[in-house]
Amino acid sequence: MTKSILVKNALMVNDGHILEGDLLMAGGRIQRIDAEIPATGDVRILEADGRALLPGMIDDQVHFREPGAPQKADMQSESAAALAGGITSFMDMPNTNPLTVTLAELEAKYALAADRALANHSFYLGATNDNLTEIRNLKPDQACGIKIFMGASTGNMLVDDVHTLEAIFSDAPTLVATHCEDTPTILRNEQAFREKYGEDVPMAYHPQIRSAEACYLSSSKAVELARRHDTRLHVLHLTTARELELLESGPLDGKRITAEACVHHLFFDDGDYEMKGALIKCNPAIKSRADRDALRAALVDNRIDVIGTDHAPHTLREKLGTYFNAPAGLPLVQWALPMVLELYHDRLISLEQLVEKTSHGPARLFQISQRGYLREGYWADLVLIDLKSPYRIERESVRYKCGWSPLEGYRLRSRVVTTVVNGEVAYHEGRVNQAVRGKRLEFER
Ligand code: DOR
Repeated sequence: MTKSILVKNALMVNDGHILEGDLLMAGGRIQRIDAEIPATGDVRILEADGRALLPGMIDDQVHFREPGAPQKADMQSESAAALAGGITSFMDMPNTNPLTVTLAELEAKYALAADRALANHSFYLGATNDNLTEIRNLKPDQACGIKIFMGASTGNMLVDDVHTLEAIFSDAPTLVATHCEDTPTILRNEQAFREKYGEDVPMAYHPQIRSAEACYLSSSKAVELARRHDTRLHVLHLTTARELELLESGPLDGKRITAEACVHHLFFDDGDYEMKGALIKCNPAIKSRADRDALRAALVDNRIDVIGTDHAPHTLREKLGTYFNAPAGLPLVQWALPMVLELYHDRLISLEQLVEKTSHGPARLFQISQRGYLREGYWADLVLIDLKSPYRIERESVRYKCGWSPLEGYRLRSRVVTTVVNGEVAYHEGRVNQAVRGKRLEFER
């Protein structure tokens, strides 16, 4: 039984409001929220000292590489890093080895996570050109969603058979999440750049190869399929202003088509390739500053519903290869909330809007049971943030198994002080409690 914890003098950001006061948790759940709660009995006091208390971030897109790529990452190493970034729940992608494309592999991954994940978790069932039966047999609450790579990326999971796509969009028993980039367009662009530069294409051309056109062709197709079949579609990692035209603004409740933007696409732009090179090579590519700014604006007008990380670690040795050899993907979970909080410091979004995109929104969008809010009776997944604590990111502080971060050398203005998962202090002042284990997310579907 976990001990009761009383958070004193917090600035609680929740459900469109900021409340100064205390929060009591016991038995894993939030027991009481009030302006003042007296400490009684055997209770641990966590003095917030006026700092911000947020519901933990629910990250709807990570690649923790387990099973199959222990040289890059594993569930334990990356979930520990996620706690340091204020993430209390994560949803992991199916491009593992073996691929998570059968119900047996999906359940095997849950069994693995029960032993190894330090945060709450759920897993996507991956789609392929030939696993329709598995998809049709999935129970709606058995996975956070069905992932379709409508563009090829790490893991060879491209679904490009027209009949299969029609069948998945028509029969999916739960939310369908898509990676949208048109592979034929990308292959043509690759060929053109290869003819000009050989194998060593300058990294700055990545957004011209993985182009805005490739993104639009694919995401407009996903949206068209979803409208025709009335599919519950979630378009992952939007990167361009043009794709935003495909989306509705307004609250996510009732939308059949929702969208995610990722921390790196909101943070970097194509001016950063010169300094960071392949370290910021990812799919879809980081695009222009105008695209980045359009994504930021779409957070405010609610065409983008949630923020995730797409944490995708690769070893530094792999990343230092030439254009065609360097794999795509960035490790991101460790500074996830501080990265998003930069938008707050720059006065682009309020704390209330931020929490909607990182916690409330993902909880409602995926119909997660009793998480994502500071609410009496809900699971106590919380993050205490110091909003006035600037620091520079150095390699020594990186917790990922891959040992590097694209943020090295950058300054961030907010620091995660404490992360609580299911009422247990899982991270505090730089230390991870390795004994904590997350729970499998439950869905009200
Ligand atoms: O950049 C990416 N990396 N995009 C993806 O779609 C996959 C990911 C990975 O798994 O490395």
